[in-house]
Amino acid sequence: MTCESICIRIRFALPGVEHCRINLKMQIFTVVYLLGLSLALQNVHCFFVDTAAHPKENSTKRKHKSDDGPVVVKIELGQSLNTISPHFVGVNIDSDTVRYHWQTLDFSSQKLQNLARALSPSYLRMGGTSADGMNYFMGNATAAGTQVFNAGHHVAKPPFNITADQWVYLNEFLRTVSWDFIFDLNALKRNADGSWDPDNARQLLQFSADRNYTIAGFELGNEFDIYRSEYDVTVAPAQLAQDVMTLQKLLTEFPKYKSSFIIGPETAYFAPEYFQAFLAAGGYKAVHAASFHHYYLMTDEERNLQHFTDIDMMDTMKAHLDEVFAEVRSVDPQLPVWLSETSSANNGGLAGLSDAFVAGFLWLDKLGVCAVKGVETVMRQAFYGRDYSLVDGDLNPNPDFWLTVLYKRIVRGAVFNATGRHDVRVYAACANTDNFKAGSLVVYMLNPNNYSVTFDLPQFQSQSRLVYSLTPGDSNGLISKFVSLNGVKLELVNDELPDLKPESAPPGVVTMDPYSYIFVVFPEAKISICLH
Ligand SMILES: *[C@@H]1O[C@H](CO)[C@@H](O)[C@H](O)[C@H]1NC(C)=O
Ligand SMILES: *[C@@H]1O[C@H](CO)[C@@H](O)[C@H](O)[C@H]1NC(C)=O
Ligand SMILES: *[C@@H]1O[C@H](CO)[C@@H](O)[C@H](O)[C@H]1NC(C)=O
Ligand SMILES: *[C@@H]1O[C@H](CO)[C@@H](O)[C@H](O)[C@H]1NC(C)=O
Ligand SMILES: *[C@@H]1O[C@H](CO)[C@@H](O)[C@H](O)[C@H]1NC(C)=O
Ligand SMILES: *[C@@H]1O[C@H](CO)[C@@H](O)[C@H](O)[C@H]1NC(C)=O
Repeated sequence: MTCESICIRIRFALPGVEHCRINLKMQIFTVVYLLGLSLALQNVHCFFVDTAAHPKENSTKRKHKSDDGPVVVKIELGQSLNTISPHFVGVNIDSDTVRYHWQTLDFSSQKLQNLARALSPSYLRMGGTSADGMNYFMGNATAAGTQVFNAGHHVAKPPFNITADQWVYLNEFLRTVSWDFIFDLNALKRNADGSWDPDNARQLLQFSADRNYTIAGFELGNEFDIYRSEYDVTVAPAQLAQDVMTLQKLLTEFPKYKSSFIIGPETAYFAPEYFQAFLAAGGYKAVHAASFHHYYLMTDEERNLQHFTDIDMMDTMKAHLDEVFAEVRSVDPQLPVWLSETSSANNGGLAGLSDAFVAGFLWLDKLGVCAVKGVETVMRQAFYGRDYSLVDGDLNPNPDFWLTVLYKRIVRGAVFNATGRHDVRVYAACANTDNFKAGSLVVYMLNPNNYSVTFDLPQFQSQSRLVYSLTPGDSNGLISKFVSLNGVKLELVNDELPDLKPESAPPGVVTMDPYSYIFVVFPEAKISICLH
Protein backbone atom coordinates (compact mmCIF):
# COMPACT_ATOMS: atom_id res chain seq x y z
CA MET A 1 0.00 0.00 0.00
CA THR A 2 1.36 3.40 -0.89
CA CYS A 3 -0.99 5.25 1.41
CA GLU A 4 0.60 7.31 4.09
CA SER A 5 -2.24 7.46 6.48
CA ILE A 6 -5.51 5.70 6.76
CA CYS A 7 -8.45 7.93 7.25
CA ILE A 8 -11.99 7.16 7.96
CA ARG A 9 -14.40 8.92 5.71
CA ILE A 10 -17.84 9.76 6.84
CA ARG A 11 -20.49 10.95 4.55
CA PHE A 12 -23.52 12.75 5.75
CA ALA A 13 -26.74 12.78 3.86
CA LEU A 14 -27.02 16.45 4.57
CA PRO A 15 -27.32 18.77 1.60
CA GLY A 16 -24.13 20.68 1.09
CA VAL A 17 -21.93 18.33 3.09
CA GLU A 18 -20.36 15.80 0.80
CA HIS A 19 -17.04 14.47 1.93
CA CYS A 20 -15.80 14.60 5.49
CA ARG A 21 -12.54 12.85 6.12
CA ILE A 22 -11.18 12.53 9.60
CA ASN A 23 -7.73 11.49 10.72
CA LEU A 24 -6.88 8.17 12.25
CA LYS A 25 -6.21 9.66 15.64
CA MET A 26 -9.75 11.01 15.67
CA GLN A 27 -11.26 7.68 14.72
CA ILE A 28 -12.39 6.29 18.03
CA PHE A 29 -13.76 9.57 19.19
CA THR A 30 -15.45 10.05 15.82
CA VAL A 31 -17.03 6.63 15.63
CA VAL A 32 -18.49 6.97 19.11
CA TYR A 33 -19.62 10.51 18.41
CA LEU A 34 -21.21 9.65 15.08
CA LEU A 35 -22.99 6.59 16.36
CA GLY A 36 -24.60 8.87 18.88
CA LEU A 37 -25.28 11.48 16.24
CA SER A 38 -26.74 9.00 13.80
CA LEU A 39 -29.11 7.70 16.41
CA ALA A 40 -30.07 11.21 17.26
CA LEU A 41 -30.40 12.65 13.78
CA GLN A 42 -30.64 9.60 11.52
CA ASN A 43 -28.55 11.22 8.88
CA VAL A 44 -25.31 9.27 8.91
CA HIS A 45 -25.53 6.76 6.10
CA CYS A 46 -22.24 4.99 5.84
CA PHE A 47 -18.67 4.77 6.96
CA PHE A 48 -15.80 3.55 4.90
CA VAL A 49 -12.08 3.47 5.05
CA ASP A 50 -10.14 5.59 2.62
CA THR A 51 -6.73 4.38 1.60
CA ALA A 52 -5.98 7.08 -0.93
CA ALA A 53 -2.59 8.75 -0.90
CA HIS A 54 -2.61 11.51 1.63
CA PRO A 55 0.15 13.86 2.73
CA LYS A 56 2.15 12.85 5.77
CA GLU A 57 0.86 14.04 9.10
CA ASN A 58 4.42 14.97 9.93
CA SER A 59 4.98 16.91 6.77
CA THR A 60 8.58 17.10 5.56
CA LYS A 61 10.04 20.46 6.41
CA ARG A 62 11.07 22.59 3.48
CA LYS A 63 14.55 21.63 2.46
CA HIS A 64 15.08 24.85 0.54
CA LYS A 65 15.01 28.55 1.10
CA SER A 66 15.64 31.78 -0.74
CA ASP A 67 19.44 31.70 -0.57
CA ASP A 68 19.85 28.22 -2.01
CA GLY A 69 20.91 29.54 -5.42
CA PRO A 70 19.31 28.91 -8.81
CA VAL A 71 17.26 25.85 -9.64
CA VAL A 72 18.98 24.06 -12.50
CA VAL A 73 16.34 22.74 -14.89
CA LYS A 74 17.07 19.72 -17.03
CA ILE A 75 14.71 18.62 -19.79
CA GLU A 76 14.94 15.30 -21.65
CA LEU A 77 14.11 16.47 -25.15
CA GLY A 78 14.89 13.30 -27.06
CA GLN A 79 11.81 11.47 -25.95
CA SER A 80 8.21 12.43 -25.41
CA LEU A 81 6.40 10.96 -22.41
CA ASN A 82 2.87 11.62 -23.66
CA THR A 83 0.89 13.97 -25.84
CA ILE A 84 -1.34 16.85 -24.80
CA SER A 85 -4.26 17.03 -27.23
CA PRO A 86 -6.42 20.09 -27.93
CA HIS A 87 -9.07 18.46 -25.71
CA PHE A 88 -6.69 17.75 -22.82
CA VAL A 89 -8.38 20.34 -20.61
CA GLY A 90 -12.16 20.28 -20.43
CA VAL A 91 -14.76 21.69 -18.08
CA ASN A 92 -17.85 20.61 -16.17
CA ILE A 93 -21.20 22.11 -15.50
CA ASP A 94 -22.75 20.10 -12.71
CA SER A 95 -26.15 18.52 -13.31
CA ASP A 96 -27.12 20.37 -10.12
CA THR A 97 -27.11 23.54 -12.18
CA VAL A 98 -30.23 22.45 -14.00
CA ARG A 99 -31.98 21.93 -10.71
CA TYR A 100 -30.73 24.86 -8.64
CA HIS A 101 -28.96 27.50 -10.71
CA TRP A 102 -30.65 27.47 -14.08
CA GLN A 103 -32.11 30.96 -13.69
CA THR A 104 -28.72 32.62 -13.21
CA LEU A 105 -26.87 30.80 -15.97
CA ASP A 106 -27.74 32.93 -18.97
CA PHE A 107 -26.59 30.95 -21.98
CA SER A 108 -27.70 33.77 -24.26
CA SER A 109 -25.23 36.17 -22.62
CA GLN A 110 -22.66 37.36 -25.13
CA LYS A 111 -20.15 37.61 -22.31
CA LEU A 112 -20.67 33.99 -21.29
CA GLN A 113 -20.38 32.88 -24.91
CA ASN A 114 -17.13 34.80 -25.33
CA LEU A 115 -15.69 33.16 -22.22
CA ALA A 116 -16.77 29.72 -23.36
CA ARG A 117 -15.45 30.20 -26.88
CA ALA A 118 -12.07 31.17 -25.47
CA LEU A 119 -11.74 27.64 -24.08
CA SER A 120 -12.76 25.91 -27.30
CA PRO A 121 -11.95 23.23 -28.39
CA SER A 122 -13.14 21.72 -25.16
CA TYR A 123 -15.33 19.02 -23.73
CA LEU A 124 -18.17 20.15 -21.56
CA ARG A 125 -19.30 17.40 -19.22
CA MET A 126 -22.66 17.73 -17.57
CA GLY A 127 -22.69 15.23 -14.74
CA GLY A 128 -22.70 14.83 -11.01
CA THR A 129 -24.89 13.48 -8.26
CA SER A 130 -27.98 15.12 -9.69
CA ALA A 131 -27.50 13.28 -12.99
CA ASP A 132 -28.93 10.26 -11.19
CA GLY A 133 -32.09 12.11 -10.28
CA MET A 134 -32.68 13.75 -13.64
CA ASN A 135 -35.76 12.80 -15.65
CA TYR A 136 -35.92 13.71 -19.30
CA PHE A 137 -39.29 15.17 -20.17
CA MET A 138 -38.89 15.88 -23.83
CA GLY A 139 -42.52 16.77 -24.43
CA ASN A 140 -43.56 13.25 -23.55
CA ALA A 141 -44.17 12.42 -19.94
CA THR A 142 -45.26 8.85 -20.46
CA ALA A 143 -41.98 7.00 -20.52
CA ALA A 144 -39.76 8.44 -17.82
CA GLY A 145 -39.23 5.00 -16.31
CA THR A 146 -38.88 4.09 -12.70
CA GLN A 147 -36.56 6.20 -10.66
CA VAL A 148 -34.84 4.07 -8.06
CA PHE A 149 -34.13 5.54 -4.68
CA ASN A 150 -35.11 4.60 -1.21
CA ALA A 151 -37.89 7.01 -0.43
CA GLY A 152 -37.97 5.82 3.17
CA HIS A 153 -34.60 7.45 3.74
CA HIS A 154 -33.72 11.07 3.83
CA VAL A 155 -32.79 11.72 0.22
CA ALA A 156 -30.63 14.76 -0.25
CA LYS A 157 -31.36 15.07 -3.94
CA PRO A 158 -34.82 13.92 -5.00
CA PRO A 159 -35.62 13.39 -8.68
CA PHE A 160 -36.32 16.39 -10.88
CA ASN A 161 -37.08 17.15 -14.52
CA ILE A 162 -35.03 18.60 -17.29
CA THR A 163 -37.42 19.97 -19.86
CA ALA A 164 -37.18 20.02 -23.62
CA ASP A 165 -36.69 23.80 -23.49
CA GLN A 166 -33.74 23.47 -21.11
CA TRP A 167 -32.17 20.73 -23.20
CA VAL A 168 -32.56 22.75 -26.39
CA TYR A 169 -31.15 25.87 -24.73
CA LEU A 170 -28.10 23.96 -23.49
CA ASN A 171 -27.44 22.22 -26.81
CA GLU A 172 -27.83 25.39 -28.84
CA PHE A 173 -25.31 27.07 -26.53
CA LEU A 174 -22.83 24.23 -27.00
CA ARG A 175 -23.24 24.48 -30.75
CA THR A 176 -22.72 28.26 -30.61
CA VAL A 177 -19.48 28.07 -28.62
CA SER A 178 -18.20 24.92 -30.38
CA TRP A 179 -17.92 22.83 -27.26
CA ASP A 180 -18.10 19.04 -27.41
CA PHE A 181 -20.73 17.63 -25.12
CA ILE A 182 -20.37 14.73 -22.73
CA PHE A 183 -23.60 13.89 -20.94
CA ASP A 184 -24.00 11.82 -17.79
CA LEU A 185 -27.16 9.72 -18.11
CA ASN A 186 -29.35 8.76 -15.16
CA ALA A 187 -28.25 5.29 -14.04
CA LEU A 188 -30.96 4.97 -11.42
CA LYS A 189 -33.69 4.24 -13.92
CA ARG A 190 -33.90 0.56 -13.11
CA ASN A 191 -35.98 -2.43 -14.02
CA ALA A 192 -37.40 -4.77 -11.42
CA ASP A 193 -34.49 -7.18 -11.95
CA GLY A 194 -31.98 -4.43 -11.06
CA SER A 195 -30.74 -3.80 -14.59
CA TRP A 196 -30.62 -0.33 -16.11
CA ASP A 197 -33.77 0.77 -17.94
CA PRO A 198 -32.69 2.70 -21.06
CA ASP A 199 -36.17 3.93 -22.09
CA ASN A 200 -35.93 7.49 -20.85
CA ALA A 201 -32.39 7.80 -22.25
CA ARG A 202 -33.72 6.52 -25.59
CA GLN A 203 -36.33 9.32 -25.57
CA LEU A 204 -33.65 11.88 -24.94
CA LEU A 205 -31.48 10.51 -27.74
CA GLN A 206 -34.40 10.44 -30.17
CA PHE A 207 -35.27 14.02 -29.33
CA SER A 208 -31.63 15.03 -29.76
CA ALA A 209 -31.09 13.10 -32.98
CA ASP A 210 -34.23 14.72 -34.43
CA ARG A 211 -32.53 18.08 -33.86
CA ASN A 212 -29.16 16.84 -35.05
CA TYR A 213 -27.45 17.60 -31.72
CA THR A 214 -23.96 16.21 -31.64
CA ILE A 215 -23.09 14.48 -28.37
CA ALA A 216 -19.46 13.43 -28.28
CA GLY A 217 -19.69 11.11 -25.31
CA PHE A 218 -21.81 9.65 -22.57
CA GLU A 219 -21.48 8.46 -19.02
CA LEU A 220 -23.86 6.34 -17.02
CA GLY A 221 -24.35 7.56 -13.46
CA ASN A 222 -22.00 9.25 -11.10
CA GLU A 223 -19.79 8.18 -8.19
CA PHE A 224 -21.20 4.68 -7.88
CA ASP A 225 -18.71 3.91 -5.15
CA ILE A 226 -20.62 6.25 -2.85
CA TYR A 227 -24.15 5.93 -4.21
CA ARG A 228 -25.37 4.49 -1.00
CA SER A 229 -25.04 7.66 0.95
CA GLU A 230 -26.69 9.85 -1.67
CA TYR A 231 -29.57 7.67 -2.74
CA ASP A 232 -29.39 4.65 -0.46
CA VAL A 233 -29.00 2.52 -3.54
CA THR A 234 -26.15 0.22 -4.36
CA VAL A 235 -25.20 -0.69 -7.91
CA ALA A 236 -22.58 -3.42 -7.95
CA PRO A 237 -19.62 -2.79 -10.24
CA ALA A 238 -20.37 -5.86 -12.37
CA GLN A 239 -23.97 -4.69 -12.79
CA LEU A 240 -22.73 -1.28 -13.82
CA ALA A 241 -20.46 -2.88 -16.43
CA GLN A 242 -23.53 -4.69 -17.81
CA ASP A 243 -25.47 -1.44 -17.83
CA VAL A 244 -22.72 0.34 -19.73
CA MET A 245 -22.91 -2.42 -22.34
CA THR A 246 -26.66 -1.79 -22.54
CA LEU A 247 -25.89 1.88 -23.15
CA GLN A 248 -23.40 0.91 -25.83
CA LYS A 249 -26.14 -1.07 -27.55
CA LEU A 250 -28.60 1.79 -27.19
CA LEU A 251 -26.21 4.16 -28.96
CA THR A 252 -26.08 1.84 -31.98
CA GLU A 253 -29.81 2.49 -32.50
CA PHE A 254 -28.94 6.06 -33.51
CA PRO A 255 -26.71 6.74 -36.52
CA LYS A 256 -26.00 10.13 -34.93
CA TYR A 257 -24.64 8.52 -31.73
CA LYS A 258 -23.28 5.16 -32.80
CA SER A 259 -19.73 6.52 -32.78
CA SER A 260 -20.11 8.53 -29.59
CA PHE A 261 -17.91 7.21 -26.82
CA ILE A 262 -18.64 6.20 -23.24
CA ILE A 263 -16.43 6.84 -20.23
CA GLY A 264 -16.70 5.21 -16.83
CA PRO A 265 -16.98 4.15 -14.03
CA GLU A 266 -16.85 7.78 -12.77
CA THR A 267 -15.95 6.87 -9.22
CA ALA A 268 -15.87 9.62 -6.57
CA TYR A 269 -12.33 8.83 -5.67
CA PHE A 270 -10.02 6.40 -7.21
CA ALA A 271 -11.91 3.64 -5.42
CA PRO A 272 -9.62 0.69 -6.09
CA GLU A 273 -12.11 -2.12 -5.51
CA TYR A 274 -14.98 -0.60 -7.41
CA PHE A 275 -12.78 0.56 -10.24
CA GLN A 276 -11.03 -2.76 -10.65
CA ALA A 277 -14.22 -4.80 -10.41
CA PHE A 278 -15.94 -2.62 -13.01
CA LEU A 279 -13.09 -2.97 -15.48
CA ALA A 280 -12.61 -6.67 -14.83
CA ALA A 281 -16.32 -7.36 -15.35
CA GLY A 282 -15.92 -6.23 -18.95
CA GLY A 283 -16.35 -2.51 -18.39
CA TYR A 284 -13.00 -1.90 -20.03
CA LYS A 285 -14.37 -3.15 -23.37
CA ALA A 286 -17.35 -0.80 -23.27
CA VAL A 287 -15.62 2.42 -22.30
CA HIS A 288 -13.31 4.65 -24.31
CA ALA A 289 -11.58 5.65 -21.07
CA ALA A 290 -11.46 4.65 -17.42
CA SER A 291 -12.63 7.71 -15.53
CA PHE A 292 -12.53 8.89 -11.94
CA HIS A 293 -12.83 12.09 -9.92
CA HIS A 294 -10.33 13.81 -7.67
CA TYR A 295 -10.16 16.64 -5.12
CA TYR A 296 -7.16 17.50 -2.97
CA LEU A 297 -8.76 19.26 -0.03
CA MET A 298 -11.48 17.37 1.77
CA THR A 299 -10.93 17.46 5.54
CA ASP A 300 -11.41 20.51 7.70
CA GLU A 301 -7.71 20.27 8.43
CA GLU A 302 -6.86 20.46 4.74
CA ARG A 303 -9.35 23.08 3.67
CA ASN A 304 -7.25 26.16 4.29
CA LEU A 305 -5.02 28.61 2.46
CA GLN A 306 -1.78 26.91 3.42
CA HIS A 307 -2.64 23.68 1.60
CA PHE A 308 -3.26 25.48 -1.70
CA THR A 309 0.50 26.02 -2.01
CA ASP A 310 1.61 22.84 -0.27
CA ILE A 311 4.14 20.82 -2.25
CA ASP A 312 3.38 17.71 -0.19
CA MET A 313 -0.27 18.04 -1.15
CA MET A 314 0.71 18.35 -4.81
CA ASP A 315 2.88 15.26 -4.48
CA THR A 316 -0.11 13.12 -3.50
CA MET A 317 -1.37 13.36 -7.07
CA LYS A 318 1.65 11.55 -8.48
CA ALA A 319 1.23 8.55 -6.19
CA HIS A 320 -2.48 8.61 -6.84
CA LEU A 321 -2.06 8.48 -10.61
CA ASP A 322 0.56 5.75 -10.36
CA GLU A 323 -2.02 3.62 -8.56
CA VAL A 324 -4.73 4.39 -11.08
CA PHE A 325 -2.52 3.53 -14.03
CA ALA A 326 -1.27 0.35 -12.38
CA GLU A 327 -4.84 -0.85 -12.01
CA VAL A 328 -6.00 0.15 -15.44
CA ARG A 329 -2.90 -1.33 -17.07
CA SER A 330 -3.42 -4.62 -15.24
CA VAL A 331 -6.68 -4.98 -17.17
CA ASP A 332 -5.91 -3.21 -20.43
CA PRO A 333 -2.50 -2.05 -21.68
CA GLN A 334 -3.97 0.74 -23.84
CA LEU A 335 -7.10 2.04 -22.18
CA PRO A 336 -6.97 5.84 -21.75
CA VAL A 337 -7.45 7.33 -18.29
CA TRP A 338 -9.59 10.41 -17.73
CA LEU A 339 -9.85 12.62 -14.72
CA SER A 340 -13.40 13.61 -15.54
CA GLU A 341 -14.27 15.77 -12.56
CA THR A 342 -11.63 17.52 -10.52
CA SER A 343 -10.82 20.61 -8.52
CA SER A 344 -8.82 21.80 -5.53
CA ALA A 345 -11.43 21.51 -2.77
CA ASN A 346 -14.54 19.34 -2.97
CA ASN A 347 -18.05 20.09 -1.87
CA GLY A 348 -18.43 23.24 -3.95
CA GLY A 349 -14.92 24.52 -3.28
CA LEU A 350 -13.88 27.13 -0.73
CA ALA A 351 -15.19 30.66 -1.09
CA GLY A 352 -12.34 33.17 -1.26
CA LEU A 353 -9.72 30.48 -1.98
CA SER A 354 -10.74 28.09 -4.76
CA ASP A 355 -11.99 31.09 -6.75
CA ALA A 356 -8.88 33.18 -6.01
CA PHE A 357 -5.39 33.48 -7.45
CA VAL A 358 -4.06 30.85 -5.07
CA ALA A 359 -6.22 28.13 -6.66
CA GLY A 360 -3.96 28.25 -9.70
CA PHE A 361 -1.17 26.37 -7.91
CA LEU A 362 -3.04 23.11 -7.40
CA TRP A 363 -4.76 23.48 -10.77
CA LEU A 364 -1.67 24.13 -12.89
CA ASP A 365 0.30 21.50 -11.01
CA LYS A 366 -2.48 18.98 -11.57
CA LEU A 367 -2.40 19.68 -15.29
CA GLY A 368 1.37 19.25 -15.27
CA VAL A 369 1.30 15.98 -13.34
CA CYS A 370 -1.56 14.58 -15.43
CA ALA A 371 0.29 15.41 -18.63
CA VAL A 372 3.45 13.71 -17.39
CA LYS A 373 1.59 10.63 -16.19
CA GLY A 374 -0.45 10.36 -19.38
CA VAL A 375 -3.99 11.24 -18.36
CA GLU A 376 -5.79 11.89 -21.65
CA THR A 377 -8.36 14.43 -20.46
CA VAL A 378 -8.75 16.51 -17.29
CA MET A 379 -12.11 18.16 -16.72
CA ARG A 380 -12.32 21.03 -14.31
CA GLN A 381 -15.13 21.20 -11.82
CA ALA A 382 -16.56 23.62 -12.76
CA PHE A 383 -16.90 26.07 -15.61
CA TYR A 384 -19.82 27.67 -13.82
CA GLY A 385 -21.34 27.07 -10.41
CA ARG A 386 -20.21 27.30 -6.78
CA ASP A 387 -16.82 28.39 -5.46
CA TYR A 388 -14.49 26.31 -7.64
CA SER A 389 -15.81 27.72 -10.87
CA LEU A 390 -13.84 29.37 -13.64
CA VAL A 391 -16.62 31.91 -14.14
CA ASP A 392 -18.40 33.47 -11.17
CA GLY A 393 -22.10 34.05 -10.53
CA ASP A 394 -21.97 37.39 -12.36
CA LEU A 395 -20.35 35.67 -15.35
CA ASN A 396 -16.99 37.30 -14.64
CA PRO A 397 -13.85 35.22 -15.00
CA ASN A 398 -11.99 33.99 -11.90
CA PRO A 399 -8.17 33.72 -12.00
CA ASP A 400 -8.29 30.03 -12.98
CA PHE A 401 -10.28 30.94 -16.09
CA TRP A 402 -7.35 33.00 -17.37
CA LEU A 403 -4.89 30.32 -16.39
CA THR A 404 -6.92 27.70 -18.26
CA VAL A 405 -7.18 29.84 -21.39
CA LEU A 406 -3.43 30.45 -21.34
CA TYR A 407 -2.71 26.76 -20.82
CA LYS A 408 -4.82 25.83 -23.83
CA ARG A 409 -3.28 28.51 -25.99
CA ILE A 410 0.31 27.82 -25.03
CA VAL A 411 0.70 24.12 -24.18
CA ARG A 412 -0.02 21.38 -26.74
CA GLY A 413 1.75 18.31 -28.09
CA ALA A 414 4.61 16.21 -26.76
CA VAL A 415 5.33 16.24 -23.03
CA PHE A 416 8.94 16.07 -21.83
CA ASN A 417 10.49 15.01 -18.57
CA ALA A 418 11.66 18.12 -16.74
CA THR A 419 13.47 18.07 -13.43
CA GLY A 420 14.04 20.96 -11.04
CA ARG A 421 14.04 21.01 -7.25
CA HIS A 422 11.70 19.81 -4.53
CA ASP A 423 10.41 23.23 -3.50
CA VAL A 424 9.25 24.22 -7.00
CA ARG A 425 7.52 22.61 -9.99
CA VAL A 426 8.80 22.51 -13.56
CA TYR A 427 7.01 21.06 -16.61
CA ALA A 428 7.91 21.11 -20.29
CA ALA A 429 5.99 20.42 -23.49
CA CYS A 430 5.79 21.53 -27.10
CA ALA A 431 4.26 24.96 -27.52
CA ASN A 432 0.90 25.05 -29.32
CA THR A 433 1.62 25.49 -33.03
CA ASP A 434 -1.68 27.38 -33.44
CA ASN A 435 0.11 30.24 -31.71
CA PHE A 436 3.84 29.53 -31.91
CA LYS A 437 6.10 28.34 -34.66
CA ALA A 438 6.72 24.62 -35.00
CA GLY A 439 9.62 23.41 -32.87
CA SER A 440 8.89 25.84 -30.01
CA LEU A 441 9.09 24.59 -26.45
CA VAL A 442 7.21 25.80 -23.39
CA VAL A 443 8.51 25.39 -19.86
CA TYR A 444 5.91 26.16 -17.21
CA MET A 445 6.93 26.56 -13.62
CA LEU A 446 5.38 27.14 -10.22
CA ASN A 447 6.93 28.91 -7.29
CA PRO A 448 4.59 28.17 -4.36
CA ASN A 449 7.00 29.74 -1.87
CA ASN A 450 7.24 33.07 -0.10
CA TYR A 451 10.69 33.67 -1.61
CA SER A 452 11.65 34.37 -5.18
CA VAL A 453 13.40 31.64 -7.16
CA THR A 454 15.85 31.86 -10.04
CA PHE A 455 15.83 29.15 -12.69
CA ASP A 456 18.81 28.28 -14.76
CA LEU A 457 17.90 26.46 -18.00
CA PRO A 458 21.33 25.56 -19.40
CA GLN A 459 19.85 24.02 -22.56
CA PHE A 460 18.26 27.36 -23.51
CA GLN A 461 20.67 29.75 -21.84
CA SER A 462 21.37 31.73 -25.01
CA GLN A 463 17.84 31.81 -26.42
CA SER A 464 15.36 34.64 -26.29
CA ARG A 465 11.99 33.78 -24.85
CA LEU A 466 8.38 34.86 -24.48
CA VAL A 467 7.21 35.10 -20.90
CA TYR A 468 3.73 34.90 -19.38
CA SER A 469 4.18 35.61 -15.69
CA LEU A 470 1.11 35.27 -13.48
CA THR A 471 0.91 37.03 -10.13
CA PRO A 472 -1.94 38.22 -7.87
CA GLY A 473 -4.05 40.88 -9.57
CA ASP A 474 -4.25 43.21 -6.57
CA SER A 475 -2.90 43.84 -3.08
CA ASN A 476 -4.90 40.93 -1.66
CA GLY A 477 -2.04 38.68 -2.73
CA LEU A 478 -2.79 34.97 -2.74
CA ILE A 479 -6.47 35.51 -2.03
CA SER A 480 -6.85 38.07 -4.80
CA LYS A 481 -9.92 37.62 -6.93
CA PHE A 482 -7.78 38.75 -9.86
CA VAL A 483 -4.65 37.70 -11.66
CA SER A 484 -2.07 39.82 -13.45
CA LEU A 485 -0.31 38.80 -16.63
CA ASN A 486 3.14 40.36 -16.74
CA GLY A 487 2.01 42.91 -14.17
CA VAL A 488 -1.27 43.88 -15.88
CA LYS A 489 -4.52 42.85 -14.19
CA LEU A 490 -6.63 40.72 -16.52
CA GLU A 491 -10.17 41.84 -17.07
CA LEU A 492 -12.71 41.63 -19.86
CA VAL A 493 -12.96 44.69 -22.07
CA ASN A 494 -16.53 45.27 -23.23
CA ASP A 495 -17.21 41.60 -22.46
CA GLU A 496 -14.36 40.50 -24.71
CA LEU A 497 -11.05 38.94 -23.73
CA PRO A 498 -8.08 41.29 -24.03
CA ASP A 499 -5.01 40.19 -25.97
CA LEU A 500 -3.06 37.84 -23.76
CA LYS A 501 0.34 38.97 -24.90
CA PRO A 502 3.65 37.63 -23.66
CA GLU A 503 6.62 39.78 -22.80
CA SER A 504 9.82 39.25 -24.77
CA ALA A 505 12.75 38.55 -22.52
CA PRO A 506 16.46 38.31 -23.25
CA PRO A 507 18.52 35.15 -22.84
CA GLY A 508 19.67 34.20 -19.35
CA VAL A 509 18.10 32.93 -16.17
CA VAL A 510 14.38 33.18 -15.31
CA THR A 511 13.50 34.74 -11.98
CA MET A 512 10.11 34.08 -10.48
CA ASP A 513 8.37 36.23 -7.90
CA PRO A 514 7.30 34.62 -4.63
CA TYR A 515 3.95 32.84 -5.08
CA SER A 516 3.74 32.98 -8.84
CA TYR A 517 3.47 30.77 -11.88
CA ILE A 518 4.91 31.30 -15.31
CA PHE A 519 4.94 30.02 -18.88
CA VAL A 520 8.21 30.55 -20.75
CA VAL A 521 8.15 29.84 -24.49
CA PHE A 522 11.35 29.32 -26.46
CA PRO A 523 10.38 30.07 -30.07
CA GLU A 524 13.86 29.25 -31.40
CA ALA A 525 14.18 25.92 -29.62
CA LYS A 526 13.70 23.83 -32.81
CA ILE A 527 12.88 20.73 -30.79
CA SER A 528 12.64 17.97 -33.38
CA ILE A 529 9.71 16.21 -31.65
CA CYS A 530 7.85 19.55 -31.73
CA LEU A 531 8.52 20.16 -35.42
CA HIS A 532 5.77 17.84 -36.63
C1 LIG B 1 8.57 14.06 12.41
O1 LIG B 1 9.67 14.65 11.77
C2 LIG B 1 10.79 14.85 12.61
C3 LIG B 1 11.83 15.63 11.80
O2 LIG B 1 12.10 15.02 10.58
C4 LIG B 1 11.30 13.49 13.11
O3 LIG B 1 12.40 13.66 13.98
C5 LIG B 1 10.18 12.81 13.87
O4 LIG B 1 10.59 11.53 14.25
C6 LIG B 1 8.93 12.70 13.00
N1 LIG B 1 7.84 12.19 13.76
C7 LIG B 1 7.05 11.22 13.33
C8 LIG B 1 5.95 10.85 14.22
O5 LIG B 1 7.20 10.68 12.23
C1 LIG C 1 -44.36 9.11 -26.04
O1 LIG C 1 -43.66 7.93 -25.61
C2 LIG C 1 -44.38 6.75 -25.88
C3 LIG C 1 -43.61 5.60 -25.25
O2 LIG C 1 -42.27 5.61 -25.61
C4 LIG C 1 -44.56 6.57 -27.39
O3 LIG C 1 -45.30 5.43 -27.65
C5 LIG C 1 -45.28 7.78 -27.94
O4 LIG C 1 -45.37 7.71 -29.34
C6 LIG C 1 -44.58 9.08 -27.54
N1 LIG C 1 -45.36 10.24 -27.93
C7 LIG C 1 -44.84 11.28 -28.53
C8 LIG C 1 -45.78 12.42 -28.83
O5 LIG C 1 -43.64 11.39 -28.80
C1 LIG D 1 -41.86 16.12 -14.12
O1 LIG D 1 -42.74 16.40 -15.18
C2 LIG D 1 -43.90 15.57 -15.19
C3 LIG D 1 -44.67 15.85 -16.46
O2 LIG D 1 -44.91 17.20 -16.62
C4 LIG D 1 -44.71 15.82 -13.95
O3 LIG D 1 -45.82 14.95 -13.93
C5 LIG D 1 -43.84 15.58 -12.72
O4 LIG D 1 -44.55 15.92 -11.57
C6 LIG D 1 -42.57 16.37 -12.80
N1 LIG D 1 -41.72 15.98 -11.71
C7 LIG D 1 -41.07 16.86 -10.95
C8 LIG D 1 -40.21 16.29 -9.86
O5 LIG D 1 -41.17 18.06 -11.13
C1 LIG E 1 -25.95 17.46 -38.63
O1 LIG E 1 -24.73 17.66 -37.95
C2 LIG E 1 -23.61 17.24 -38.70
C3 LIG E 1 -22.38 17.29 -37.81
O2 LIG E 1 -22.49 18.22 -36.81
C4 LIG E 1 -23.49 18.10 -39.94
O3 LIG E 1 -22.36 17.70 -40.67
C5 LIG E 1 -24.73 17.92 -40.76
O4 LIG E 1 -24.70 18.77 -41.87
C6 LIG E 1 -25.97 18.23 -39.93
N1 LIG E 1 -27.16 17.87 -40.69
C7 LIG E 1 -28.17 18.71 -40.81
C8 LIG E 1 -29.33 18.18 -41.57
O5 LIG E 1 -28.19 19.82 -40.34
C1 LIG F 1 12.62 11.98 -15.36
O1 LIG F 1 13.92 12.25 -15.03
C2 LIG F 1 14.27 11.93 -13.69
C3 LIG F 1 15.67 12.43 -13.43
O2 LIG F 1 16.53 12.08 -14.47
C4 LIG F 1 14.12 10.44 -13.49
O3 LIG F 1 14.43 10.10 -12.16
C5 LIG F 1 12.70 10.04 -13.80
O4 LIG F 1 12.53 8.66 -13.71
C6 LIG F 1 12.31 10.50 -15.18
N1 LIG F 1 10.88 10.29 -15.34
C7 LIG F 1 10.37 9.71 -16.43
C8 LIG F 1 8.90 9.56 -16.44
O5 LIG F 1 11.06 9.33 -17.36
C1 LIG G 1 8.37 32.71 4.72
O1 LIG G 1 7.86 31.59 5.41
C2 LIG G 1 8.68 31.15 6.46
C3 LIG G 1 8.16 29.82 6.96
O2 LIG G 1 6.78 29.79 6.98
C4 LIG G 1 8.76 32.23 7.52
O3 LIG G 1 9.56 31.82 8.59
C5 LIG G 1 9.30 33.49 6.89
O4 LIG G 1 9.26 34.55 7.82
C6 LIG G 1 8.52 33.90 5.66
N1 LIG G 1 9.21 34.96 4.97
C7 LIG G 1 8.58 36.00 4.44
C8 LIG G 1 9.42 36.99 3.72
O5 LIG G 1 7.38 36.16 4.57
